[in-house]
Amino acid sequence: TVTKQILVLPGDGIGPEIMAEALKVLRLAIDKFQLGLELVFDELGGAAIDKYGVPLADDTLAKAKKAHAVLLGAVGGPRWDTLERSIRPERGLLKIRSELGLFGNLRPAILYPQLASASSLKPEVVSGLDILIVRELTGGIYFGPRETKVLDNGERRAQDTLPYSESEIRRIAKVGFEMAMLRNKRLCSVDKANVLESSQLWREIVEQVAKDYPEVELSHMYVDNAAMQLVRAPKQFDVIVTDNMFGDILSDEASMLTGSIGMLPSASLDANGKGMYEPCHGSAPDIAGKGIANPLATILSVSMMLRYTFAQPEAASAIEQAVSDVLDQNLRTADIWLEGMHKVGTREMGDAVVAALAKL
Ligand code: NAD
Ligand code: IPM
Ligand code: MN
Repeated sequence: TVTKQILVLPGDGIGPEIMAEALKVLRLAIDKFQLGLELVFDELGGAAIDKYGVPLADDTLAKAKKAHAVLLGAVGGPRWDTLERSIRPERGLLKIRSELGLFGNLRPAILYPQLASASSLKPEVVSGLDILIVRELTGGIYFGPRETKVLDNGERRAQDTLPYSESEIRRIAKVGFEMAMLRNKRLCSVDKANVLESSQLWREIVEQVAKDYPEVELSHMYVDNAAMQLVRAPKQFDVIVTDNMFGDILSDEASMLTGSIGMLPSASLDANGKGMYEPCHGSAPDIAGKGIANPLATILSVSMMLRYTFAQPEAASAIEQAVSDVLDQNLRTADIWLEGMHKVGTREMGDAVVAALAKL
């Protein structure tokens, strides 16, 4: 078999802790399903600043371009928060997304039935929840022209701008419709078209793309209402497609419907199936080094990687089954722990998933 490469970037804070567990699972899956995948390693974010002086070194970017997929922990932390914006850890993450052309960010919020009472919402509101947020990832306000200038009166004025071109909107809308076709054929496009010019264009282009998907039931919703609807009646949604910043915020909100942000994986895809895979959460400085972070979002990101980039649905489903089996054993990290459950740390959780996968 041809060997394909995965670039592993553990990152900062809990990044290396959760990555260690995800790699145990990935290595077992590679063995068990004879996937012919090879791991290469480098640094991103604060760890890269410490090692190379920049959050994303040119050589690391070259490795990422050469690899078939990138697996990322999380970046950022208080140690680097006082650095100038252009060399902060987060810049490295934005740059790698942009340079790899990873415009399509899939963030599935799926409630494992075992976690129905771990959600902050009533079990009946979330039970059976399975929604997919499709977030535009390389445009919008994250990448628009920006500046801070000194006004005549001496005060500073900072500005970010939110540009979207028709082609940028069209390609992410297509991802939304394609995903809806694979699921329950309902797509909700979330914008702020009652205020923003860029959202008006967004809505217009989404309507155009809809003509190619007559089977998909399309709706539009303003983002403020969407934020409310997500906690009122989240099961009304199937696929949500939205811009970079709205998607960032709504996916963190949606994560709590599944019990914890520690459960939400993601895939960031280009037009050809190349992808970067990472949990939706950050480096969690408040719990870093304590060995209590939930590794399941990263483990489930491995599953998404095997499904989307390497077209190994059997291996991907096996990992998801192993996660479910571990929840059946009542093992819980602190973020999803409830009375009567067995509390475990990051490593025990990873080991339990490995054991469950080995048995399948
Ligand atoms: P965060 O997601 O790191 O943490 C928010 C809260 O969720 C914290 O209380 C944290 O302990 C908890 N949490 C997150 N992941 C968890 C897990 N796996 N298990 C248990 N609990 C978990 O968000 P933040 O605190 O706003 O940001 C911290 C740093 O991470 C910042 O530097 C931020 O820029 C960065 N960040 C990076 C990414 C990324 O790399 N993709 C994403 C978000 C934030
Ligand atoms: C995420 C993070 C990043 C984002 C930050 C760290 C740049 O919050 O992946 O959700 O805003 O995209
Ligand atoms: Mn985020």
